[in-house]
Amino acid sequence: MASLLGVTGAHAQSGPVSASVTIRADQPGATISRNIYGQFAEHLGAGIYEGIWVGEDSKIPNTRGYRNDVVDALKKLKVPVVRWPGGCFADEYHWREGIGPREQRPIKVNTHWGGVEEPNSFGTHEFLDFAELIGADPYVSGNAGSGTAQEMADWVEYITADNNSSLAQLRRKNGREKPWKLPFFGVGNETWGCGGNMRAEYWADLYRHMQTFVKAPRDNRPLKIASGANEADYHWTEVMLAQASKLMDAYSIHFYTRPRHEKWMDKGPGIGFPESEWISTLDHALYMDELVTKHSAIMDKHDPEKRVGLFVDEWGTWYDPTAGREPGFLWQQNTLRDAHVAALTLNVFHRHADRVKMANIAQMVNVLQAMILTDKEKMVLTPTYHLFEMYIPFQDATFLPAEFKAPEYRKGDLAVPAVDVSAARGKDGKIHIALVNTDPNRGATITTKIAGATGKGGVTGRVLTAATIDAHNTFDKPNAVQPAAFKAQRKGDEVIANLPAKSVVVLTLE
Ligand code: AHR
Repeated sequence: MASLLGVTGAHAQSGPVSASVTIRADQPGATISRNIYGQFAEHLGAGIYEGIWVGEDSKIPNTRGYRNDVVDALKKLKVPVVRWPGGCFADEYHWREGIGPREQRPIKVNTHWGGVEEPNSFGTHEFLDFAELIGADPYVSGNAGSGTAQEMADWVEYITADNNSSLAQLRRKNGREKPWKLPFFGVGNETWGCGGNMRAEYWADLYRHMQTFVKAPRDNRPLKIASGANEADYHWTEVMLAQASKLMDAYSIHFYTRPRHEKWMDKGPGIGFPESEWISTLDHALYMDELVTKHSAIMDKHDPEKRVGLFVDEWGTWYDPTAGREPGFLWQQNTLRDAHVAALTLNVFHRHADRVKMANIAQMVNVLQAMILTDKEKMVLTPTYHLFEMYIPFQDATFLPAEFKAPEYRKGDLAVPAVDVSAARGKDGKIHIALVNTDPNRGATITTKIAGATGKGGVTGRVLTAATIDAHNTFDKPNAVQPAAFKAQRKGDEVIANLPAKSVVVLTLE
């Protein structure tokens, strides 16, 4: 059940706004899959090379080539799943070029992302070992663009075969005795665009064909994810679900949040933006709710039992290229605005937990809405990293509906709810409540009543906020935006929280 997200009229621009929330602990909903906290790591800019992989001979402290600082930070985040190797990169990736002795692997051109050399040093073994190292499930994205059904079938066999097939022997020769667990395999990526410029009708047939050959031992069969729609392409979803829903375990959609969302060539900057682009970005992030609702409605028609998961396997902010950087590397700063986008988007996924079973933020390190930025031996955690860390209690928690009327935050022609709320009962048995104040000028006093919960313990909390809307962490000032302790009051079955302007708070009822 979704939250009741009404918006009340405008308030005078003074003092904190107030909102009353009722959490229905007596009406538990679906499990919020931990996999909506998934990430995406593509061979793009410094996303893999430099960001994750520096090689065993690097002066940067590393474990078998993976930089220790990044691995440690990701372990703390409890990343549930990582999608790799793309993205558009996956649509031209030939897995055989990324196995065997590294010095013998071919050097290719990364045609999508800056035309740089791709050394293939980070391949199947390196990715699957990395996933094991950080404790995440691997999600391998197969090449349905320039690849063949046979190549895809061989890749899955190479990873999963537990017998003496030639591909299993080759894997052993390359250093991996036992098969890896492969829970997720993507058939195609953006087949409407960089993955082949197909029409939905053509792709539906090709998907049916290609997925036929994705085979693995019974106890290690990956879920098959069908490449799906771009944003609001509901025709794509209709055709794919009508023609192929029985042959897929999940269906993916992609959506990127932009400040000036009507123009791809002039999206707006990542820092130094006006308040009008704070609100337009949050407004566009909230569009995720409409997208998920409408795609889900089509899925409900063809899959009423909700067997097929909706995977939003690329989402996040996408700004203009940063001056002085290669535009094809998609490097951008990450501010308090990004943390708010993440909170609002994750709250949308919580509300649709019955259908949205995975989401992968784009991307993990140094690319788009990154968790982590690196520069040679230096590393910094972004506001989005901190937001994901604060939201860890929601992984595999049980959704609890929140009923509230949100006051309005308005700027120019745009209005968004000033307050957003998401609640769940965590695996620890405690109730966790995320509160967002989107208004950058006014605090918010939020009174939350818990219906159906007993216990008169205390409440603990943390807040993420900063002095400016584009506050961000740099290598010189790595802690400009970081979580701080937050005090709320608990009175009987009510919790009162005074949120600062532009803040996200996560409370735990002890
Ligand atoms: O995340 C960057 C790119 O965005 C991906 O490669 C592609 O799938 C999408 O268009």
